[in-house]
Amino acid sequence: MAIKTLLVTGGAGFIGTNFIINTLQSDPSFRIVNLDAVTYAGHPGNLDGLLHQYDGRYRFVHGDIRDATCLATLFEEESFDGVFHFAAESHVDRSIHGPEAFIKTNVEGTFRLLEACLLRWKHHGLDEKAHFRFVHVSTDEVYGSLGPEGFFTETTPYDPSSPYSASKAASDHLVKAYHRTYGLPVLVTNCSNNYGPFQFPEKLIPLMILNIMDQKPLPVYGDGKNVRDWLYVVDHCDALLEVFCKGRIGETYNIGGGAERENIKIVRLLCDMVDEKLGRPKGQGSRQLITFVTDRPGHDRRYAIDASKIGRELGWAPRYRFEDALERTVAWYLENAAWVDTIRSGDYRKWIEANYGDRTSG
Ligand code: NAD
Ligand code: DAU
Repeated sequence: MAIKTLLVTGGAGFIGTNFIINTLQSDPSFRIVNLDAVTYAGHPGNLDGLLHQYDGRYRFVHGDIRDATCLATLFEEESFDGVFHFAAESHVDRSIHGPEAFIKTNVEGTFRLLEACLLRWKHHGLDEKAHFRFVHVSTDEVYGSLGPEGFFTETTPYDPSSPYSASKAASDHLVKAYHRTYGLPVLVTNCSNNYGPFQFPEKLIPLMILNIMDQKPLPVYGDGKNVRDWLYVVDHCDALLEVFCKGRIGETYNIGGGAERENIKIVRLLCDMVDEKLGRPKGQGSRQLITFVTDRPGHDRRYAIDASKIGRELGWAPRYRFEDALERTVAWYLENAAWVDTIRSGDYRKWIEANYGDRTSG
């Protein structure tokens, strides 16, 4: 069996971790090198078990995508058949508090990575050239905000609202430019909101699960009626592999769950799920902890993905129903108290104070 070596950037984060586990489990022909700078969002320990389980098929490299020397060394040591570029600063609220890190990693980091890939790709033989693929993992937030009707398609004009989405939009443009100008074989994916195991508890779903467990206030921004289109992370990982194996070079694929929900409805559902799983007496529900707080500046009202292109061309569709996968996610957080404790030590409390301390409740 011919082994294909993949470079995964940001594989110690939420989606990258799930992607590596999913890929190594599902296909023995893949070997993965995970390059991650281990920021506050990166936890290489998530994948410690893989070193023994998939002996030789997993390698972790502690390094930064902005570091050209580190990239050059890595591209000398390894001969990659493909790159999955997840590494990014990913949280909208953090981008509002401190945009610079987003420009540095999402824009400059993507540029450095493209340069390293291009240099190696140019020196590939014809056969290797034909197989190589660069998958850029991006977000539906580049399209901006929708009104009550309509969907984002692959041709929706870019209109990002936050420093995060603007930096991701810039990175998408760079990736596409490296295809048009230099011929680098790239594919771009724009995905909706993910949820599932290993998500850092600064994002809506894990934050709410943990606050409900601890009976802390549940901070809902604005009127709670903003809508996101939710996708279980494993479905996203499957879609990315399909794009890598079967996608058309130079194309963009939107990925979404077809599960639009208002934030407030998700928070209420989580209250009921956690309360039930913890056997809390009915009638003293956690819903009373819901607190409407000052809105996020520039808060996009609604996201909804038209995922018909990836369905039609690559045969992908989500396998998990939202409510079922949400239950699995709740169960995972309840069963992984040690992981949660590690994550919440260090700077986590400082972030909670910085983001929520000044918000008034209404
Ligand atoms: P995350 O914040 O959980 O993880 C990001 C990872 O990147 C971390 O392990 C971090 O250490 C690493 N990283 C950060 N800066 C780095 C650098 N300079 N060099 C190397 N590694 C670095 O993010 P996530 O939620 O797993 O998202 C992964 C990717 O998917 C991002 O590009 C994001 O824009 C995109 N995306 C996320 C979602 C979502 O709902 N979470 C949806 C669509 C697209
Ligand atoms: O759409 C894809 C994007 O989804 C990804 O590109 C981002 O990396 C990812 O973080 C996510 O962005 P959002 O801003 O949509 O996710 P977040 O979990 O931060 O917020 C989801 C919704 O919940 C949003 O409308 C804001 C709201 N919210 C969030 C938090 C953290 C609250 O009401 N209260 C909160 O405390």
